Amino acid sequence: MINRNIYLIGFMASGKTSVGRKLAARLNMEFIDLDQRIEEEERQSITVIFKEKGECYFREVESKVLRSFSESKSCLIALGGGTVCYSSNIDQVNQNGLSIYLKRSNMRLLGRLRQKRSKRPLIANLSDDELKAFIDDKMKERASFYEQAQLIIDADEFDSKNDLVQFIVEKMVEIES
Ligand code: S3P
Repeated sequence: MINRNIYLIGFMASGKTSVGRKLAARLNMEFIDLDQRIEEEERQSITVIFKEKGECYFREVESKVLRSFSESKSCLIALGGGTVCYSSNIDQVNQNGLSIYLKRSNMRLLGRLRQKRSKRPLIANLSDDELKAFIDDKMKERASFYEQAQLIIDADEFDSKNDLVQFIVEKMVEIES
């Protein structure tokens, strides 16, 4: 049905990986999780990369691994929360495939991220109040990148992942026809 890459973008814990997996299965596309590819390439966890080599190094590797998919067609790639906010990556993504932003409110992100801090070095050591401030600040920085996506989905409006995936598929049919 689609012969270009799909890139799922959005803040940490917006559901890129779990929704991406389901969507890829539904569309019969190969699913790739960019963070996981970075860990395989570097043979280190994201946490260790941040700790030992720093965020700048991580961003360089992230952009390099992202670009390694520019020749691929029909991969569905779940990006990291910061990927499109660095190194013209949003242009790279928009030129190379279809970008989909899984948009969620800051309140919802806070709820979702509270239980999911440990594997995310940018927030691992933050208290609840600090986490809330972090989300508010980062969203201010990042929203203008996320909003450049070709398809923006209000993910909070869906009660189930299946409904969300079904809606995205319908939107894609509209776009592709
Ligand atoms: C990051 C998000 C993470 C991961 C890294 C940095 C960010 O990915 O790439 O910890 O800057 O928002 P997820 O969005 O999959 O958590």
